[in-house]
Formats: sequence, structure tokens, C-alpha cells
Amino acid sequence: MNSSDLQIVAIDLAERSYHIAIRGSLFDNPLSYAELPKAQSALIVTNTTVGPFYAERLQRALAGKFPQVHTVVLPDGEEHKTWQNLNLIFDALLANGCDRKTILFALGGGVVGDMTGFAAASYMRGVPFVQVPTTLLAQVDSSVGGKTAINHPLGKNMIGAFYQPLKVVCDLNTLKTLPAAELSAGLGEVIKYGPIADVDFLAWLEANMEALVARDPAALAHVVKRCCEIKAWVVGQDERESGLRAILNFGHTFGHAIEAGLGYGQWLHGEAVACGMVMAAHLSQRLGLVDAFFVNRLIRLIQKAGLPIRGPVLSDTDNAGRYLELMRLDKKSEAGEIKFVVIDGPGRAVVRGAPDAMVRKVIDSCCAG
Ligand code: NAD
Ligand code: GLY
Repeated sequence: MNSSDLQIVAIDLAERSYHIAIRGSLFDNPLSYAELPKAQSALIVTNTTVGPFYAERLQRALAGKFPQVHTVVLPDGEEHKTWQNLNLIFDALLANGCDRKTILFALGGGVVGDMTGFAAASYMRGVPFVQVPTTLLAQVDSSVGGKTAINHPLGKNMIGAFYQPLKVVCDLNTLKTLPAAELSAGLGEVIKYGPIADVDFLAWLEANMEALVARDPAALAHVVKRCCEIKAWVVGQDERESGLRAILNFGHTFGHAIEAGLGYGQWLHGEAVACGMVMAAHLSQRLGLVDAFFVNRLIRLIQKAGLPIRGPVLSDTDNAGRYLELMRLDKKSEAGEIKFVVIDGPGRAVVRGAPDAMVRKVIDSCCAG
């Protein structure tokens, strides 16, 4: 794919449908926002890291369309995805007299995107917002599909809403300033789409992982488009996760336990998901759904992306017990039974429970120490 061609992926959700635009040099081009509804004001939500790179350029791009463009800068980090910092967005909206037509712009990674979306869902019972994702993870996953949330000390993304953006503007050039570890974390969410939905994409990733790690523009353009297409296909069938959409959580049940157990921000979300995919693949094998060859194939790909394949020890006394305790809080749990996304053959995923004893064996075999 030529990285200079504009790619459009449609999210088909009746009156909540929208487009994802993918290319370089998009976020600071006023044409990217030309079709948005008229409003007196816009609020850019960003953070202390992304703001200095990109906020002024976005402000200039929006200035011709909105008479007032305000900016609020949040502290950077998963540990700041809290009520307290969500309130900073409401403070800025109210202090600037923003009304029901004000459009919020989420300029940043998944943390800024999830928080801005939740603020948009709740301010005056709902105002429009646009996602301008600047991490690979946000471009291939979090900016698409309308999941918005903040964390609770007892569980990740526990307080939130389904709320779709008006548009997603994926500017591939913003990935040039992303730290290498963050690019790898994004590759964790990229990899998940292969085992759950597209075995040809898995093979493509195996052949192109070096190019992705080296930030080859054409490889990145292909990945963002293909991941958005798969996510659009899933979300278009199951917007509010009553079934199919849960497959997008492959690796997340174990991964969220790692994030909550270590303390938010200790491991990057994509790192925890990658390691969680290794555990979920081993569980799939123990359930008799895939063979060792498939598990090893996935592990090699995760390693090639520079991501961890061994889980951290969360408790010195009963490590597996601590993972189980944390996983019971997962949103997919039903009446205390943990549900896992497992691979049911290459390119196919299902959600099911597993005996605690089996899960314990997986955790024991996958954790460092
Ligand atoms: P992040 O938002 O914390 O961004 C990662 C780091 O990169 C941050 O330090 C950020 O400031 C910095 N950064 C962002 N863009 C940059 C750029 N262009 N140049 C330099 N630095 C940049 O993390 P993330 O990985 O983007 O997102 C993780 C979050 O997304 C988690 O909270 C996770 O729960 C959420 N998530 C949500 C969904 C969803 O469907 N809503 C899906 C997956 C993940
Ligand atoms: N990232 C999982 C989902 O959007 O459902």
C-alpha cells in the first residue's frame, strides 16, 4: 500500500456511523475537519507529552472553523486515567462556557481518547467528539468502536460508556515521535487481530514485523487500515459487546490482571496484552483447541515485536491465586466465573470458561521467577 494515499474505513452503525481517515499529514489539515457540524467552540484534550508536539498545530487547523478553540492538558500516564483528571475536562468545558454543540478533540493515545470520549458522553448528557489518535495502539484499536472509560483502583476501565466519535483522524506521521516501547505496545494490539479473525494477516505480520518495528510507512499504513477494517467488521455486528465483540479482548483477561496487579502504568497496556495473549494461547492449547505449533508461532511473533512473553509474579505466596482473584473482576465474568477469549483454530476465537486448576497451571508455567 502507498502510504501517501488517503484510506477510508467506514464504521457502519446506522445513525452513529462514521469514517476513519488514514494517511500522513492529516491531523493539522483543516480539510480533515471540514464536514464536522458547526459549533461556537472546540476543546482539544491532550496531555503533557503529546501537547507540546501537536496541540498548537491542531489548534491552528481548527481555528478557521470554530470561533473559539480551547485546550486542556492532562497529566500523562495510565495511572492518571482517573475521576480526578476526568474532572479537569469538565472544569475546562464549564470554565470556557462550552455548550451542547461544542466538539471535543481527543489528541493523544488511548488514555486521552478513552477519557475524552467518556467526558463527551457525560458532559450535558452528551456532546460530539473526534478522535485524533497519536499512538499505534490508539490508531488500530482504542479510537475506534466507541468504548470510553476511566480506571477504578479495583479494576481497569470499570467506569465508562459506549459512545461513538463523529470521526477518527489517524495521522501516520504522528507515529514518528512515538517512543520505541510504545510502538511495540501498539504491535501487541495489532497482533491480536491475526489469531482472532484473519490468519492471512497473521502470516503477513510474520513476514513484515521487521519493517513495522523499523516504522516503514507503507507497512504501518497497511496495518492501521487492516486492523481498522477488522474492528469495523466486529463492531458493526456487535456495538455493545453482547457477544462477538468480546473476541477483541483476546489476551486482555490475563493482561488486565497484570496491569491492576502491578499497579497501573508499571507495564504498558500493549505489553500486558501481549503477555496475556501468550497465556490465553497456552490455555487454548490445554483446552484442546489449538496445537503447540500455533502457540509457538504466536509467541515468536510477540517476541519479534519486542514484547514480553513471561508474566510478572503478582504474589510471592499464591501467584496464580492473585491472578484468579483479579480476573474475577473482569467485565466478562459472570456470577464469579471468569470467561476467557481462547483461540478455536487459527483465525477464530470463542469466549468460554476454564477450570481454575487448568488456569493455575497456565499461570504457573507462564510467569517469571
Ligand atoms: P497512552 O495513551 O498512555 O500513550 C502512550 C504514551 O505515548 C504516553 O506517554 C503518551 O503521552 C505518549 N504519546 C502518545 N502519542 C505520542 C506521539 N505521537 N509521540 C510521542 N509520544 C506519544 O497509551 P496507549 O497505548 O495509546 O493506550 C492505552 C490505553 O488505551 C489504555 O488505557 C487502554 O485501556 C486503552 N484502550 C482502550 C480501548 C478501547 O477500545 N477504548 C482499546 C485498547 C486500549
Ligand atoms: N478493545 C476492545 C474493544 O474495543 O472491544
